Amino acid sequence: MSPPKKIPRLASFLALLLAGSVPLAAAAEPPMREVVRDSLEFSAAQYAFMLSSLEGRPGYPRSVAKGEITLVPASDWTSGFFPGSLWYLFEATGDPKWRMAAATATAGLKAMKENRHTHDLGFMLYCSYGNALRLAGDADDREVLLAAAESLSTRFNATVGSIKSWDHGQWAFPVIIDNMMNLELLCWAARAGNQPRYREIAVAHADTTLRNHFRADGSSYHVVAYDPVTGKPLLHVTHQGAADESAWARGQAWGLYGFTMMYRETRDRRYLEQAKKIADFLVNHPRLPADKIPYWDFDAPDIPAAPRDASAAAIMCSALLELSDNVEPAAAGRYAAVAEQQLRSLASPAYRAKPGENHGFLLMHSTGNFPKRDEVDVPINYADYYFLEALLRSKARLARLPAANGHE
Ligand code: GLY
Repeated sequence: MSPPKKIPRLASFLALLLAGSVPLAAAAEPPMREVVRDSLEFSAAQYAFMLSSLEGRPGYPRSVAKGEITLVPASDWTSGFFPGSLWYLFEATGDPKWRMAAATATAGLKAMKENRHTHDLGFMLYCSYGNALRLAGDADDREVLLAAAESLSTRFNATVGSIKSWDHGQWAFPVIIDNMMNLELLCWAARAGNQPRYREIAVAHADTTLRNHFRADGSSYHVVAYDPVTGKPLLHVTHQGAADESAWARGQAWGLYGFTMMYRETRDRRYLEQAKKIADFLVNHPRLPADKIPYWDFDAPDIPAAPRDASAAAIMCSALLELSDNVEPAAAGRYAAVAEQQLRSLASPAYRAKPGENHGFLLMHSTGNFPKRDEVDVPINYADYYFLEALLRSKARLARLPAANGHE
C-alpha cells in the first residue's frame, strides 16, 4: 500500500483539531523533526564558537564558575563528555572537521585507561573512546577501552558484589547509583575482548544495586555504603541530594538510564521492570514541573523556588527514548510524550543558550552539587552530551515512524 498523501493527513489533523482531539497548544508547536533539526544545527554552530573561543587552551570544558569557563584535566570525572559531544556532532553532521576535533580531544584521555582510582572510567572513556570506536573504528581505540575495562574491574569486590565508587569520603566501600552508567564499558569489553568476567561483574553490580539501592516507590538512594569484609549494606545516605531519604534528580536519571542500558545489554527482564518502575516514579511525580525539567531534587525544601537540573532532564530524556522502544504501546506512549516535552523544553529559549552566549555550552540551568553550593544553575558538559544524544535518538526514532501530522 502506498503511503498516505500529505493533504488528506493534514485534513484529518484539522478535523481532529476542530473536534477538540488535539490540544491547541500542541497545534501551535513546531513538528519534532523541526525541533531536532534546529537544535542540532544550533549545537554545531555553538560548539564551533566554543572551540574558537578556547583557542587551544589546555583542559576540557566542564562548566562556568564566577563568570569564567572551567577547564578540567583528563582525570576529572566529566572529561569524556566534551569529546563525546564532538563525536555526536560528527555523527549529526558527517563533517570531517568534527571528527578531527573529536579525535584530538579524545586522544588527550588515553592515559586514563590505567586509572584504577575511580569508577568513572565509563563516563570518561566510553563517552569519548567508545564513540570514537563506533564512528571511526580505530584499533587503538579498542585497545584503550579494553585496558580501561580491566582497570575498572579491579574495583570489583566479589563479597559485596559491586564495583567500589569512591576512594574518598568517610565510607570504606561506597557505591553510588551513578555507577550503573559505567557498566556499559564492561558489557562492551566482555564481547569485544571475549572476556565473560567483565559481563559477570556488570551483572553482579546491577543485581546488588537492584537489591540495595531502591525504595518501594522506585526511587533510589544516592550512596549505599557496604562492609567490604562481610558484604553487608551498612548505610543508605546521600552525598549530592537534599536528604538521605530524598530523590536526588540526577541520581534517579542515572538509575533509569543504567537499568535501561543493562536491559539492552542482557535482555534480562528484571532490569526492564526496574527501568519501568523508575520511569513511572519520575513521569508520574507530582513535583515534576509541567515543562518536565526536574528540580535538582524531587524533595528540595524550597520547591517551586528550587533550581532546576537540565542535566537530569537530558539524561532522563535520552533514557526514556530508549525505554519507550522496549515496552508495550501504552507505556511507550507515556514515556515518549514526556521525553518529547523534555526535548521541546530543553530546545526552547528557557534552557537553550542564545548563539554565542553561555561560554559556548548548549544548555543553561543545570545543578551539579547543590548541598556544596557548587555548580548551581549553570551550564554543565554532561547536560550538553545527553542533550545531543537525545536529539540523535529522537532523530533516529522519527525516521522510523511514518511521517505524521508533525506531532509525533
Ligand atoms: N556522577 C556525579 C554526578 O552526577 O554529579
